[in-house]
Amino acid sequence: MARISASVYTSHVPAIGAAVDQGKTGEPYWQKVFAGYEFSKAWMREHTPDVIFLVYNDHATAFSLELIPTFAIGCAAQFQPADEGWGPRPVPVVEGHPELAAHIAQSVIQDDFDLTIVNKMDVDHGLTVPLSLMFGQPEAWPCPVIPFAVNVVQYPVPSGRRCFNLGRALRKAVESYDAPLNVQIWGTGGMSHQLQGPRAGLINRKFDHAFLDRLIADPAGLSQVPHIDYVREAGSEGIELVMWLIARGAMSDSPPKVAHRFYHVPASNTAVGHLILENQ
Ligand code: DHB
Ligand code: FE
Repeated sequence: MARISASVYTSHVPAIGAAVDQGKTGEPYWQKVFAGYEFSKAWMREHTPDVIFLVYNDHATAFSLELIPTFAIGCAAQFQPADEGWGPRPVPVVEGHPELAAHIAQSVIQDDFDLTIVNKMDVDHGLTVPLSLMFGQPEAWPCPVIPFAVNVVQYPVPSGRRCFNLGRALRKAVESYDAPLNVQIWGTGGMSHQLQGPRAGLINRKFDHAFLDRLIADPAGLSQVPHIDYVREAGSEGIELVMWLIARGAMSDSPPKVAHRFYHVPASNTAVGHLILENQ
């Protein structure tokens, strides 16, 4: 049977993607951000999974305001990097895993979560920047990726509780797939940031560190935090953090091994947080 071996959590700032693509990662500003991912790239080489289930949010790229799925699972064989205004990022095409994606859709929908099945979709920085941070600049991404898009852009957004419970349903789905696949689940976005309005530039280190502590040690308790607390404390885009609870809910109920933890302010307008948790 397939199993979830580890979960990875990281912010997804678009300027990080531009720094990689333009060869600026060694500049003093960026060096401090990328230093936190040196361990992660080495860890990924040792722990390359068979498939990554990548939870992220689309930023009105694949889905315009005309159609906004709360949870969308990418079932296609390939996903093209999106054009977000400066042309598509020069990164490899993302290869999917249609068989596992279809199995997960079947299992999770029968478990009463309403997923939108997506057979054609471009992927934006929400998905490609985490891949760049963890893999650098390979010719091809080292394994297939199932994109899982969550609406955290247009209200109403799903609660942390629903995200955490969805993670549990994803775990059950993966563990009922009849092939010995090593699957990682990634939760991306966050940490505190607000991109518009009078509070633009908001960063809340105290909230972010407490979130990381609780994500590790008390995810069920953390999942009860209402969405308005994220917005008040972590800024309007801080709500992206509910996606981390999907990945955490998919992990085993016993305490994980914290393989890596990193936090840095700022990258562009955002507090960068990063965790690697291994199932024991
Ligand atoms: C920034 C962060 C985001 O999460 C995003 O989607 C766009 C921009 C930023 O910090 O600039
Ligand atoms: Fe974002």
